[in-house]
Amino acid sequence: MGDAAEDRRKAEQLPEGDIVRVLLEQHAQVRDLFAEIQKAPANERKEPFDRLRALLAVHETAEELVLRPQADDADWKDVATQRNQEEAEANEVLASLEDMDTASEAFLKKLQEFEESVDDHAEAEENEEFPRVLEALDEDERRKLGSRLQAVEKTAPTHPHPAAAGSTTAVALTGPFASMVDRVKDALSG
Ligand SMILES: [Fe+2]
Ligand SMILES: [Fe+2]
Repeated sequence: MGDAAEDRRKAEQLPEGDIVRVLLEQHAQVRDLFAEIQKAPANERKEPFDRLRALLAVHETAEELVLRPQADDADWKDVATQRNQEEAEANEVLASLEDMDTASEAFLKKLQEFEESVDDHAEAEENEEFPRVLEALDEDERRKLGSRLQAVEKTAPTHPHPAAAGSTTAVALTGPFASMVDRVKDALSG
């Protein structure tokens, strides 16, 4: 199990705005939110879950659009494909969690299983993808990608959409409509 403090320590060693730094900081936030939901009383899980759901939805979309296309050799492309597949699966689990009663035992159990798979996924990114990015791209390029990633996150879907996840193409084709619907939904629910 990775830990949030370790992610933040690694992030701080990189320049501000570096794509790897931004992603590591978000991994730390994801880990904190899983803990926050599980610590909360059953009837107060919904609010931190909504924050986790929105963060994961935009984070994974941005990785698919900005990080994965950086893979420039066969090995790295294999790694990228595996990560995209895990994200497509995670998107489905997130969609089913969103349909559950957050106060129920069943929700808590599913959330705990989900935390394990998200953790494995994040560890795989940190061990197999981020080092490749740090090696292949210089600081300037990584900062540019960091800005692009943050721009994408401002407009990415805030809810899971299994049909619009799991590859750069799927996200690019269906993401914008999903995102528009989500943002209207978020505005209406305040
Ligand atoms: Fe990811
Ligand atoms: Fe990630």
